[in-house]
Amino acid sequence: MLTPSPPRTTAIIVGSGLAGLSAASQLISHNIPVRLLERAEKPGGNSIKASSGINGAPTKYQNVSDDAFYADSVKSAGKAMHSLTAEREKLIEALTNKSAAAIDWLVDEKGVDLSKVAVLGGHTYARTHRGAGQTPPGFAIVSTLLKGLKESPLFHLQTSCTVTKVLQSGPRVTGVEYACDDGKKEELHGPLIFATGGFGGDAEGLLARYRPDLAGYPSTNDPRPGTQPLLTAIGAQLIDMDQVQVHPTGFVDPAAPESPLKFLAAEVLRGEGGLLLLDGKRFINELETRENVTNAITATPPVSTSPKQWEVQLILDEGVYKAAKSHIDFYIFKKLMRKSTISDLDSNALPSIQEYAKAAAGKQKDSFGRTQFANWTLVDPTPESVVYVGAVTPVVHFTMGGVLINEKSEMLNEKNEPIEGVWGAGEVTGGVHGGNRLGGSSLLECVVFGRIAGEKCVEFVNSKQ
Ligand code: FAD
Ligand code: SIN
Repeated sequence: MLTPSPPRTTAIIVGSGLAGLSAASQLISHNIPVRLLERAEKPGGNSIKASSGINGAPTKYQNVSDDAFYADSVKSAGKAMHSLTAEREKLIEALTNKSAAAIDWLVDEKGVDLSKVAVLGGHTYARTHRGAGQTPPGFAIVSTLLKGLKESPLFHLQTSCTVTKVLQSGPRVTGVEYACDDGKKEELHGPLIFATGGFGGDAEGLLARYRPDLAGYPSTNDPRPGTQPLLTAIGAQLIDMDQVQVHPTGFVDPAAPESPLKFLAAEVLRGEGGLLLLDGKRFINELETRENVTNAITATPPVSTSPKQWEVQLILDEGVYKAAKSHIDFYIFKKLMRKSTISDLDSNALPSIQEYAKAAAGKQKDSFGRTQFANWTLVDPTPESVVYVGAVTPVVHFTMGGVLINEKSEMLNEKNEPIEGVWGAGEVTGGVHGGNRLGGSSLLECVVFGRIAGEKCVEFVNSKQ
């Protein structure tokens, strides 16, 4: 008589954003059952909102040979590189060296369209990938991975269930305690991958504790508590908790200018050729890092203190419109942008746009040092020239800090030793981006470290069978 094989250990994943889904896909591909717990009603987290794209280099869609991604990431991380330098370098190496494989995995294995490439701020080359059609990149990637996972009988997703405690036996992590909106409270046992996202929405809690100076800033993140305290309770080390990214361009909705939750004006609009005006004048190379663009805006007095807001205009021409049509049509539909003419703008705008157009046409050097103008085509701006305009302001967007992991996605304790039985990936972790994350590198970190976490969890499960 055949002895039935023992049931396979089930891996637990907390968080259904891109990091959790990437880890789950990896586990399922090795026939390891997955229980995915998600506190929201619907899966996808912030990942599903991602609008500009995912970085990768070199890939088949880039038209330049690109070996500068690592250097750009280190430069953007800035002064943070002075502490834990070797650990940070290994994380950035993993991020950038595995970026091409991450794009290949999404495109070739999963069938996501990522054929369009744009440059974002702080990048030497265009390396942020999105699809050529109407679907924004976050939605395209998340929905494709979810669909694939749901086809497997080994995948079990529970939404509206919040993990409230991580369980340990001695120093080893053994599972979680969770509570669901229907009143159910349970324990679940197994190896654990934590992929619970950042704390940008935790205005009264972690954000207030680590960055009280950001009080009153609007945000692109829905209000929600951060989850790092669940992990410090098991000895996880925190890093860079005060490094919070303020994105320079959240839309100020003319119908609700005081709303603290802003719709993001995707950086790809500047990447495709858009420019910024403050009082009708340019003030910076729009493709500087987010940190630098934001600092240039916030060095001027805000126009309102509750929420703390500035009045910057994002200006696009017909060439940029064609290149980012699906984004812009959507923003126009939401009444966050309007089609207009230069005569409708501040009186300083015409000479500013004329200067920009000359630099874009190669007739003179840009006075702010911008060298990439992508799809800007307007050569001779006049008061009648058509432009697309939106009001934008800096917004709390992303938290670079979190629990420290190593390049194997192992969660580290205060002695920099791995905590057995738990891995971390995505925005809940810290150390990968230092003081400033490059646009497009968050989706990338989710795929790279999510897949590593899945792979290491597979090895762990197999070693115990
Ligand atoms: P998330 O996608 O946020 O998922 C975490 C999930 O964990 C959430 O669903 C949350 O509900 C769940 N969770 C949290 N705590 C618990 C708990 N205790 N129990 C159960 N579940 C829990 N990055 C890019 O690289 N490119 C872009 O174009 C881009 N655009 C963006 C646009 C917007 C508007 C925003 C807000 C962010 C954007 N980002 C972009 C950043 C990027 O989307 C996120 O940082 C990244 O997707 C985070 O993924 P994640 O899987 O770590 O977390
Ligand atoms: C954006 O679309 O501007 C966000 C990109 C990112 O956060 O990486």
